[in-house]
Amino acid sequence: MDSILEFLSNIQWWQWIIIGIIIVAIRDIFFQRRHTISHNFPVVGHLRYLLESIGPEMRQYFVANNREELPFNRIERGWIYASAKKENNYEGFGTDRDIYAHQHIFINNAMMPYKVEDNNPSAKDKSFVPCAKVMGAFNKRKRPYRPASIINVSAMSFGSLSAKAIESLNKGVKIADAYHNTGEGGLSPYHSNGGDVVFHFGTGYFGVRAKDGGFSMEKMKKLVEDNPFIRAIEVKLSQGAKPGKGGVLPGKKITKEIAEIRGVVVGKTVLSPPNHKAFSSVPELVDFIEDIAKETGLPVGIKAAIGKLDQWEELAQIMAKENRGPDFIAIDGGEGGTGAAPPSFADHVSLPWIYGFSDVYKLFQKHDLTERVVFIGSGKLGFPAKAAMAFAMGVDCINVAREAMMSIGCIQAQICHTNRCPAGVATQSKWLQNGINVPLKSERLAQYFKTFKKEVMEITHAAGYEHPCQFNMNDIEMNVDDHNLTKNFDQTFRYQKTPVAFSGMQDLKICKFLGGVKANKSD
Ligand SMILES: Cc1cc2nc3c(=O)[nH]c(=O)nc-3n(C[C@H](O)[C@H](O)[C@H](O)COP(=O)(O)O)c2cc1C
Repeated sequence: MDSILEFLSNIQWWQWIIIGIIIVAIRDIFFQRRHTISHNFPVVGHLRYLLESIGPEMRQYFVANNREELPFNRIERGWIYASAKKENNYEGFGTDRDIYAHQHIFINNAMMPYKVEDNNPSAKDKSFVPCAKVMGAFNKRKRPYRPASIINVSAMSFGSLSAKAIESLNKGVKIADAYHNTGEGGLSPYHSNGGDVVFHFGTGYFGVRAKDGGFSMEKMKKLVEDNPFIRAIEVKLSQGAKPGKGGVLPGKKITKEIAEIRGVVVGKTVLSPPNHKAFSSVPELVDFIEDIAKETGLPVGIKAAIGKLDQWEELAQIMAKENRGPDFIAIDGGEGGTGAAPPSFADHVSLPWIYGFSDVYKLFQKHDLTERVVFIGSGKLGFPAKAAMAFAMGVDCINVAREAMMSIGCIQAQICHTNRCPAGVATQSKWLQNGINVPLKSERLAQYFKTFKKEVMEITHAAGYEHPCQFNMNDIEMNVDDHNLTKNFDQTFRYQKTPVAFSGMQDLKICKFLGGVKANKSD
């Protein structure tokens, strides 16, 4: 024994390295059958796996140019980070974009900008931009809601985001006068920190789930009664990243807290099917919406990604004929994000926002419905010029998901589906989310929203308007390589937006529905 120990202790450090390499080589050649590359190129073959695993970070930090990356390039991310931190978000020396590139958009400025008089609410508060329409006004809901901000937080659930991220977003929307969409995971304590909430549910009915996995109206009513800060309800039909695809919530992720919030059993896997149990046709969807609105008094809307239009046509026909239906419609673009989706869905199923939205808007316009519906857009619209474009096309509000995540620290690591989010935003790991400083991050979300609204208003004034709802399709042009060929949006998409009834910022400021109507328990 002593002689073996003595022999081992006489081996030099570099000899240990050689022994290690020989052991790895023997394992690669004779004992592992899973990787051809390491078998055929023992030891060095491992380098390939190592480089591949750190490739995205290497490209993001060193290789990709400022405008190259997707979903969001460095300039876009930098603008959000700087805006959220109230740092200098300007760029020097002129644009680094190729403004002659195909599909580049231009906003037509007026010869003389809109003059903001001293008595205009925008003169005092540069980020005061409420929605120009009231949700639920046409259908005479008991508690109509005029969102106090044109930019709001899109559906992202507690479960896909961490508790600290949700809490930061909710406290942030409170500061910024915006609303916070719960996403599919139900209403958690982290959504209940003072911000307005839009309660969202999908086929899993989390938070309003009956024992059989269907929808419970009793739970819905109780939820709204107990939480007066819920301002509207959104029924999810689909989302851009994975339309028509159900989901699985594995039992091991269902902790006691998540089980309570979602209304499911601890440790038992839950399936969200692709279809709703509560309705299976367009007329049934309309009945369902009306039932919820009647029982809760709140405006009820739908969220969907767009592909085929026949069922949308049916919906518009019913709405026009029966004067019923959704108070708001959120159209999500195929470029939308998610916690996890198969690439084949994320890349190919459903239309990009600009095509999907224009299809649906035109269809509703044909039935004379655009004035009664609040249109919401989501799909990389969290930038002032994109927002101006979306308003010109007909949206009344914008929802942002990933841009909001970035404002609270997301670094676009694109590993939300692994539970290893390094920024603590899209993970349930206690350790990783402990790095989130909630008061600081909520200020950052609020500051991003304020800067966003201020810059949208500056663009609006530059175009000669008082409110972004006044943008129309002639205000935006899309490059088709030569200015003689460049077309206004109305020629490109073949519709003109229905003018939004707007009588001035002051009227929005004194509107009794601004920020919603308080719940009256006796109702
Ligand atoms: C982490 C994460 C979770 C999401 N969860 C939901 C959800 O529960 N329900 C839903 O309809 N959309 C969900 N979405 C989609 C967003 O609400 C939004 O529609 C989409 O990301 C487009 O907006 P964006 O480009 O600003 O990110 C999620 C997106 C992300 C990034």
